[in-house]
Amino acid sequence: MKLSTYQNTAKEILKINDFGGYTVPTKGLYPFQWNWDSAITALGWMYVDEKRAWKEIEMLIAGQWQNGMLPHIIFHQESDTYFPGPDVWGAGEKLHSTSISQPPIVASMMLEMAAIATDKPLLESKLKAMLPAIVDYHLWWYRDRDPQNTGLVSSYHPWESGMDNSPAWDDALAAVPQVEWEYQRRDLNHVDSDQRPHKAQYDRYLYLVDFFKKSNFDPQIIYQNCPYKVQDIGIIAMLYKATLDLLTLCQQFKIEHQGLDQLSKELELTEQAIDQLWSDETQFYHSRNTITNELCLDQTSAGFMTVYAGLSSPEKTQILTECAQTWANSSQYSLASTIPSSEKYEPQRYWRGPIWLHINWMIAQGFEKSNQNFIAEKLQQDAKALLKESGFFEYFHADSGQGCGGDNFSWTAAIALHWILK
Ligand code: DGY
Repeated sequence: MKLSTYQNTAKEILKINDFGGYTVPTKGLYPFQWNWDSAITALGWMYVDEKRAWKEIEMLIAGQWQNGMLPHIIFHQESDTYFPGPDVWGAGEKLHSTSISQPPIVASMMLEMAAIATDKPLLESKLKAMLPAIVDYHLWWYRDRDPQNTGLVSSYHPWESGMDNSPAWDDALAAVPQVEWEYQRRDLNHVDSDQRPHKAQYDRYLYLVDFFKKSNFDPQIIYQNCPYKVQDIGIIAMLYKATLDLLTLCQQFKIEHQGLDQLSKELELTEQAIDQLWSDETQFYHSRNTITNELCLDQTSAGFMTVYAGLSSPEKTQILTECAQTWANSSQYSLASTIPSSEKYEPQRYWRGPIWLHINWMIAQGFEKSNQNFIAEKLQQDAKALLKESGFFEYFHADSGQGCGGDNFSWTAAIALHWILK
């Protein structure tokens, strides 16, 4: 098939998932607007309709809380194909939403969008209108999730990491009590159970949702008492990169906001603190469970986000390059979300092994910037092969290449248009 055929399919996927200004990740399985999905999908829309692309981010900002938080899901409409919905979360201000966030990559996507925008007056007017809200969002992360100014923000839920059932959360999540009420999962109506998290994990995901509600979403109470608190290396690195990108955009488009100096200081704090998350034992970056003060020593692709963010020193980047090479060659396709040599590696189960193409793209960017083009090229070639062999799935079996999770997936289509099909 010709490249243009794949590009047309990708554009069609965005259109079928368009719910009138926001894009669902895929119909049925995820019938609402998800934060980091939407940020990536907006980038894909730039290849179809620039006005529509900016609208995607406007719809995300429409769900912003007064404290600046951009929720992980915005429940624009009702749907009975997903659980837990707005009734369980009991949260939201202008719109029903969840009470947690997701990897804050929207500013980085806006910088990418600005670089390819052809309608410059539209770009300028949209950025002028939206960037102050994104600054508020970043300030919220640093204020609410790092009240002691450590330079390392905390996540309160595995869903906040976007990497829900990553082995890195196993110990921290095991310490969370399980909900005692009965519930009916809906994800298993759409996807095989061996590609999704286990019930024992859902029981704890839901306990945390209840805990937030019982705490009246009060940041102080949650910070003091949340039974799950993790300095998430993926979020920390993506937030750092997005803050840099946000400051670049604000400077370029002359956006004034009293919080900009604060953001520069936060960057310095993170630079000073990041090596606390390096393990001499594994020679890798990890998340830290701040309740036990222990590093989560599983090796997951989130550790490479430090290279994407430009946070790792040249020496550490060299170590991570060698690691990525071995890692990439240890499964049929690269890059598995958990290192294949781990006993926890499951090549088909959500964030415990499968390949996620938006993550491939971010890791490839990092290695390309570090002049390690061979890794970036391998990730791109493998992404192309997966797309051609299996289609536009949510994620892919790292050994068989089989498409897993939802089909006709928006961020896969977006990344295909922006990177894979180039
Ligand atoms: C889910 O429901 O599986 C989502 O990943 C939560 O964000």
